[in-house]
Amino acid sequence: MAGRPFLLSLAATALGATPAQWRSQSIYFLLTDRFARTDNSTSAECDTTVGQYCSGTWRGIINQLDPIQEMGFTAIWITPVTAQIEDHTSYGQAYHGYWQRDIFALNSSYGTDDDLKALADALHDRGMYLMVDVVANHMGYSGPFSSQKYFHSPCFVQNYEDQTQVEQCWLGDNSVSLPDLDTNRANTRDYWYDWIGSLVSNYSIDGLRIDTVKHVQKDFWDGFNDAAGVYCFNEIFDGDPAHTCPYQEHLDGVLNYPIYYPLLNAFKSTSSSISDLYNMIETVKYTCADSTLLSNFIKNHDNPRFASQPGVQTTCPSPKNVAAFLILSDGIPIIYAGQEQHCSGGNDPSNREATWLSRYSTESELYKLIAASNAICTHAIGQDEGCLTYMNRPIYHDDSTIAMRKGYDGTQVITALTNAANGGSSYTLSVPNTGFKANHELTEIYSCTSVTVDSAGSVPVHMDSGLPHVLYPAAGLNGSEIYQ
Ligand code: NOJ
Repeated sequence: MAGRPFLLSLAATALGATPAQWRSQSIYFLLTDRFARTDNSTSAECDTTVGQYCSGTWRGIINQLDPIQEMGFTAIWITPVTAQIEDHTSYGQAYHGYWQRDIFALNSSYGTDDDLKALADALHDRGMYLMVDVVANHMGYSGPFSSQKYFHSPCFVQNYEDQTQVEQCWLGDNSVSLPDLDTNRANTRDYWYDWIGSLVSNYSIDGLRIDTVKHVQKDFWDGFNDAAGVYCFNEIFDGDPAHTCPYQEHLDGVLNYPIYYPLLNAFKSTSSSISDLYNMIETVKYTCADSTLLSNFIKNHDNPRFASQPGVQTTCPSPKNVAAFLILSDGIPIIYAGQEQHCSGGNDPSNREATWLSRYSTESELYKLIAASNAICTHAIGQDEGCLTYMNRPIYHDDSTIAMRKGYDGTQVITALTNAANGGSSYTLSVPNTGFKANHELTEIYSCTSVTVDSAGSVPVHMDSGLPHVLYPAAGLNGSEIYQ
């Protein structure tokens, strides 16, 4: 392993890495093959249904960092970088990066060793972080794991309630099977720990997203996280906090699937109930070790896009409410490429559209709302870093509305969200328990309007268009770009 060329080159310096540094980041997630091409094309066809490479590259990403950064993101998460199987399967090609063949070589479809390093440099020059997706659960036979003896015997996971089967059987099926490494074997852990440390340092990686974590024994991950030396958040594809949260005792963070499901249910229709979301905010807070290190999302390459839900149309305000929730509640927000353009692909592979076809428009309503949400979050952190560890308090809910408070007195952000339809009847919601005193002057961020706290200390919020509302002390905005 030491003789592999890409492990020997000198490492550039990563910007940050610790969980504390990541707590203040906002992540834009993209599939390298689907985000941007080296030729900067905005018209090259990409038929998601055929599951083939569409020629996105690391150089392409470098060329399109402006619209990401201008939307307020401070980090990108890219799909796995390692060499893949080259077969044309009945599910298509390994354009996504999760069918790894050789962990010591890069996927040449995305570029060269220098291109990946140039991406890290380009991000760091902007003060942004690079997060890379890695897979340790499964791979083709190669490198230090060159024979079947390093793998569990073939069997496909059938029963996801049976943890032994989940850890020891293979993912996939007879068309594409993903050989499951026996991570309990002598030396196997050491190989992985050496590998991840080298990958991180060689490519100046600031953080990791780890794939299929629940398919490997929990105690494998302590050493992996330590060897990586950077913040790691992890995919536990499970909405039950009793299953998901315990992994945070072994790894820095987890994808917030427990919030994903009630968030989706709360906003996908005007008749949905919001109380499950309200309750889950509290459950996650008290079940996971640190809810401020989890990562929130509403869509990714594995789940249908939110905009594909029946009734969630371009003009519908619910994607805006959801985006505001992701950015202004506990944890590190993740926005999936195309979310800002209201892409509406359904199940995998339809949800993996080429972002270049949107021409990276900065004019879409969601782009602007995401930018404004990231901006107020960054501003509030600048005024008081305490808001990063202040745990989100849901302070009010009714059938169609939820209000949350994040931040200490004087710099608290109040977010009021609704699943009521656009054009629904106009009313004023009186939000209690905000911590503001009577007559305090606030600003509603999205509309730049003034709001005065009433004599009882409640905040009157005009819920007249189904839109989200975010309130911040007016005095705290003086001189800030948010108000211009
Ligand atoms: C989860 C990834 O997000 C998904 O896209 C992939 O197919 C599986 N893990 C298997 O690696």
